[in-house]
Amino acid sequence: MASLSPVLTQSSSVLVDHAQGSWIYDASGEAYLDFSTGIGVTSTGHCHPRVVAAAREQVGKVIHAQATTVRHQPMFDFIGELSKVLPESLDSLFFSNSGSEAVESAIRLARMATGRPNIIAFQGGFHGRTMAAASVTSAGLHVRSGFGPLMGGVHFAPYPNAFRYGWSVDQTVEFCLDQLDFIFHTQTMPKETAAFLIEPVQGDGGYVRTPPAFLKGLRELADEHGIMLIFDEVQAGAGKTGRFWSHQLADGVTPDIMTMAKGIASGFPISAIAAPTAIMETAWPGSQGGTYGGNAVCAAAGAETLRVIADEHLVDNAGTRGEALGRLLAPLEDRFAEVGQARGVGVMRALEFVTPDGRPAPETAKAVLKAAEREHLLVLTCGPYGNVVRAVPALNVSAEEIELGAERLTAAVESVLGAPSATSAPEVVAVPA
Ligand SMILES: Cc1ncc(COP(=O)(O)O)c(C=O)c1O
Repeated sequence: MASLSPVLTQSSSVLVDHAQGSWIYDASGEAYLDFSTGIGVTSTGHCHPRVVAAAREQVGKVIHAQATTVRHQPMFDFIGELSKVLPESLDSLFFSNSGSEAVESAIRLARMATGRPNIIAFQGGFHGRTMAAASVTSAGLHVRSGFGPLMGGVHFAPYPNAFRYGWSVDQTVEFCLDQLDFIFHTQTMPKETAAFLIEPVQGDGGYVRTPPAFLKGLRELADEHGIMLIFDEVQAGAGKTGRFWSHQLADGVTPDIMTMAKGIASGFPISAIAAPTAIMETAWPGSQGGTYGGNAVCAAAGAETLRVIADEHLVDNAGTRGEALGRLLAPLEDRFAEVGQARGVGVMRALEFVTPDGRPAPETAKAVLKAAEREHLLVLTCGPYGNVVRAVPALNVSAEEIELGAERLTAAVESVLGAPSATSAPEVVAVPA
């Protein structure tokens, strides 16, 4: 009798029977408030009736309209809906199945468009688990270690996480931009550099918002040197930040290539890269493809997901509800010295746990995760040290669910940390990401 490989681990012990909206139910009928949303995927909540209906209808028409063999209407419908939310310049789309594949596609396209080999990625960034995606990932050794050598041509630059450095945002941005100049003089010349690859809001790296000034600085450097600017919107995109794309938090900064997945189809596996047609045309025909990419059922669910997000004003809802969750969690930072920072944007909310002397405290984060499950709240851990608990409710989470989730997460923190300490938050020791 075969069994599930132990390489796959679960953050909870829940055996799901069914799910609806922001709730997951196990076989015995226990209800869990889902602030994990399948790692930020079920944007319209679990099994939104309109998404279910669109997928059901498509299943009865054609499931696998293989995209390198035939064309199919759901893909064009999805392109139509995406066109309404994409920056105007990103007018060409290529579909794949997962976030990792989209990152692979973006790297392949950037190398072909520039004829250059090297990629500059940023410390603490997460871009996936396939070989190229893992090579540009530095959000934790579990993604990179033990199966090298990884893809060459990757250079990691410091990421402007002011909390980690213990500096002001301005100081951190200045330092990190200066370090790029240093990298150009010591590791990869601009004329060898195909792309900067960055998450406008780091996801698995700990829900850290990239300062707009840094994204603007990257845009300027990319323009000056003919380098492609790739924004990885796989986790933070599709409305979670209160803007449709997280890079729109830095008004006026647009990438050359953008990746998307997760929330664009409410749980159906489909991903894409978007770029200007002129950049897509630099790639050799047939240089991208795949058996399942752009699956018709996933595309139909994706198109309906985007219609639901628009019709139900879910980007605004994510902004409002997310801010409310942030306000409810913020006091934990003052109440507990071990809560180094309560941060986030939109429905991406995080608590970073530290030791009394300000070092990362992964054991505390793990204990809070487990305590939250006992409270029937599902959240996740993240961060390069595993010391961050993240909550990422669906875009259509209600005000009552936000209050209940904050109550349960607060109870979980209290149960792990006990009575609040009298001291205020400690000085954070600068730890390079
Ligand atoms: C920003 C980002 N890029 C890429 C990926 C990889 O996506 P997938 O797990 O679908 O391959 C993830 C997954 O969490 C992600 O957060």
